[in-house]
Amino acid sequence: MRELALNILDIAENSLSAGAKLVQVRVEADFAADTMRISVRDDGRGMSAEMLARVTDPFTTTRTTRKVGMGIPLFKYSAESAGGSFHIESEEGVGTYVYAEYRIGHVDRMPLGDFGGVALQLVTMNPQTDFCIVARADEAEGVLDTREIKEILGEDIPLSAPEVRAFLKEYIQENLMDIFGGRL
Ligand SMILES: Nc1ncnc2c1ncn2[C@@H]1O[C@H](COP(=O)(O)OP(=O)(O)OP(=O)(O)O)[C@@H](O)[C@H]1O
Ligand SMILES: [Mg+2]
Repeated sequence: MRELALNILDIAENSLSAGAKLVQVRVEADFAADTMRISVRDDGRGMSAEMLARVTDPFTTTRTTRKVGMGIPLFKYSAESAGGSFHIESEEGVGTYVYAEYRIGHVDRMPLGDFGGVALQLVTMNPQTDFCIVARADEAEGVLDTREIKEILGEDIPLSAPEVRAFLKEYIQENLMDIFGGRL
């Protein structure tokens, strides 16, 4: 079974391909309302309105200019097949915002999966890009902002340094366990 975390990785990789300097990822759950929301915002090159219309629906357009991508359609499908909704905004030269909402208890909602592993991979393997990753459930919130971590570490120590990576891995896992407690 696919995991939502892998969808998130696909969408964040689009942001990286678009040359984003900052990628903001949010996973928020409201258990009382049985709703979870995932969003990815970037400041990359963005898309034209025509491009935007095509990427969300690869099956209904005749396309010859490029290969059919599946990242966005699969993410859209993951939400719409789980009682939720999907939304994307993009502006050339400004950036892109991708949003998906799910019914947590819907039978066809995919599990979040290894979101911590995806977060760790993104922040340690893309030194040129900053990430602000937020996890929230009801009143509990955890934030991983590479701009803050880089400020503390200074210029000489990369986030991929083994000690830093080990610290981040534990920090992310502990936070996600506190916040979501394996409920997603
Ligand atoms: N954040 C973004 N910023 C700018 N362009 C984007 C962004 N996300 C998607 N696109 C454009 O939309 C296209 C479709 O994205 P999608 O993820 O669906 O497929 P893909 O990345 O081309 O292929 P795949 O994800 O299957 O490897 C991308 O090729 C890119 O041109
Ligand atoms: Mg993609």
